Amino acid sequence: MPASPTATPEHIKDVNTRYHDAAADEYDAKWGIDFGDTGQEQVRAKLLKALGGRDGQSFGAGLEIGSGTGYFSLNLLQLGVIESLTATDISAGMLKRLARTAEGLGLEVETARTEAEELPFEDESFDLVFGHAVLHHIPDLEKAFAEFRRVLRPGGAIAFAGEPSRYGDRLAALPKRTGLLVAPAWRRLVRAQPRAIAETEQSEGHSLEGEVDVHAFAPADLRRLLRDAGFEDRHVGGEELLANAWGWGLRTVESSAEPESVSWKWRSFAFRSYLALQKVDSRLLEPHLPAELFYNLLASGRKPS
Ligand SMILES: C[S@@+](CC[C@H](N)C(=O)[O-])C[C@H]1O[C@@H](n2cnc3c(N)ncnc32)[C@H](O)[C@@H]1O
Repeated sequence: MPASPTATPEHIKDVNTRYHDAAADEYDAKWGIDFGDTGQEQVRAKLLKALGGRDGQSFGAGLEIGSGTGYFSLNLLQLGVIESLTATDISAGMLKRLARTAEGLGLEVETARTEAEELPFEDESFDLVFGHAVLHHIPDLEKAFAEFRRVLRPGGAIAFAGEPSRYGDRLAALPKRTGLLVAPAWRRLVRAQPRAIAETEQSEGHSLEGEVDVHAFAPADLRRLLRDAGFEDRHVGGEELLANAWGWGLRTVESSAEPESVSWKWRSFAFRSYLALQKVDSRLLEPHLPAELFYNLLASGRKPS
């Protein structure tokens, strides 16, 4: 459920900060975030799709917006797609987690707590400004895109992935509802214990979940934002249909159980089945269906030289 249309930008940013601070420690486990070969391959493929298939590109200084725990940026840094990383987020809790993971991986990163609409960086400081699943949280996207352009060097690129599409957002309700219906039978089947306290009631942060999302996009919205901010070589695409429907169903049933009672065997099956459906999506569906039909939208552009 998106934030109320009457919510002020300050309220939306405050809720996002509190929600993501509270979610930070559980975030990687909840979303199956991986910093090994699988995670790197996922992120490489997403960036490639966002850039419209221009493979083999590498960038100097990278700036991530809404980096969370570092799913996108730490994997890109490990792959050598960016030479250096400045990770930004409105949530100090997320950045703390990112810094700890970076240290464990032996990666050097700069972090800065900031909102996307006002970036504390000099003009023309970065070669790639990027993000994953962040644009839909930002109240004033025109202002944010103007900032992305300002801090990019001429010829630099912008790339965003994992943004909810309007159609996909509506479709996601179906696997969530189905997941709720089948959850008791699923728990019996995999011998998982019912969750003692519902996830949504565990903390003040979790109860804010319904208020953190502000936008779901049509491809035309992202094209307009790129064009109005003055980006060239614009590309907007869609990804994941079957994989995302399955993923929402899985997350819904899993969140009905005590996490430690869900077996490794189930988790491994769930993850492998999700990856298999991702392949079906990217090989069979994404090349042929319009971007609007997919759950996630991706967008990129280039600042004129
Ligand atoms: C859905 S999470 C995605 C995190 C990470 N990019 C990933 O893919 O795992 C969205 C992130 O955006 C951050 N965020 C929300 N509103 C923001 C804003 N106005 N400016 C910057 N970051 C924001 C949140 O704190 C959170 O870490």
